[in-house]
Amino acid sequence: MSDDVVRVSFTVNGAPYDLDVPPRRLLSDALRHDLRLTGTHVGCEHGVCGACTVLVDGAPVRSCLLFAVSLDGAAITTTEGLRSADGGMGPVQQAFHECHALQCGFCTPGFVTTVAAFLQTHPDPTPAEAREAISGNLCRCTGYVNIVAAVGRAAELLAGSPAGDATPTKATQA
Ligand code: FES
Ligand code: FES
Repeated sequence: MSDDVVRVSFTVNGAPYDLDVPPRRLLSDALRHDLRLTGTHVGCEHGVCGACTVLVDGAPVRSCLLFAVSLDGAAITTTEGLRSADGGMGPVQQAFHECHALQCGFCTPGFVTTVAAFLQTHPDPTPAEAREAISGNLCRCTGYVNIVAAVGRAAELLAGSPAGDATPTKATQA
């Protein structure tokens, strides 16, 4: 290994990787450019917009603010890792689809990862809790109403409600 790179080992979406990266390689760049996982989007590159959000050991983080070398031993999950077992959309992705919670989609991977982590600890959120959960993610298109509805719908799907049954509940009546 040259002096210009550092070996870092982590898993991404369950797959193990050993990467030799420059010490200042951002996690977002390592994911997108080294691993070709372009589902993670990069907007502001300053920790503001949330588009680059991924999960590290289950917790949402801004991948544009982390050096990849700091993730040695971590379990990273990107939006690609939130697919269903058959390769289709996972519950949170399905909910965004059903609720029309995206337009251009640039912000969506960051919302999906953020919401997936949130629902792990808030399986039946109120609309207020849903709004609070996504308050750190910016969307320039949607106006957020449908995103809040998607949080509630994702909760329903995770609780076992069948896909395509979009009957509103307390969580989806934002
Ligand atoms: S690109 Fe990381 S927070 Fe905006
Ligand atoms: S859907 Fe365009 S920025 Fe959110």
